[in-house]
Amino acid sequence: MIIAIDGPAASGKGTLARRLAAHYGLPHLDTGLLYRAVGAACLAAGGLGDAMAAARIAHDLDLTSLDADALRTAEVGEAASVVAAVPEVRAALLDLQRRFAAQPGGAVLDGRDIGTVICPDAGAKLFVTATSEVRAERRFKELSGRGDAVTYDEVLADIRKRDARDSHRAAAPLVQAPDSALLDTSTLGIAEAFAAALALVEARR
Ligand code: C5P
Repeated sequence: MIIAIDGPAASGKGTLARRLAAHYGLPHLDTGLLYRAVGAACLAAGGLGDAMAAARIAHDLDLTSLDADALRTAEVGEAASVVAAVPEVRAALLDLQRRFAAQPGGAVLDGRDIGTVICPDAGAKLFVTATSEVRAERRFKELSGRGDAVTYDEVLADIRKRDARDSHRAAAPLVQAPDSALLDTSTLGIAEAFAAALALVEARR
């Protein structure tokens, strides 16, 4: 069983993907981390302006060396969204994601284009969303909780900018797959959102 979960930043898709993976005993890939790793490596190499350098970094990416904590900063999220708009970067990361999804028994993948591009035949597809204000509040708590010096207004502006870039890019834009189930987590706690996600997956498999 492949479970494909897409949605904008801080919609709750990562938490739901982790929980669904634990529930079904499936491996989970947070595909945002791949783009974050490429963005971080580009920043370290001097900037985001060289699309071909970004594609080379994406091509050589080693899944086992990703440091999730270091990659979850606001700066790296912004860099990820810039390199994610480069078609060659997306192409370089395609096989790795499809191989992960093809594991015997299945997998859970979350991102922006899992149900539309990476796993169009996934057995269960969820599109997880929430208002930008609710998402900014969640991301603000997460970032300030780990010591990042950010304000709520900065986080909200960042989320809106990233939504716009992710939704309007030409290559694999963030869009709900027509055969996915929509889950709005704006007014749901984690337990409620998980119960709703589980019911939607169960109804589809
Ligand atoms: O989900 P996360 O915030 O970690 O993703 C960081 C960025 O990576 C997103 O803003 C998006 O631009 C990009 N991304 C993508 N396709 C995916 C996952 C993430 O373009 N499947």
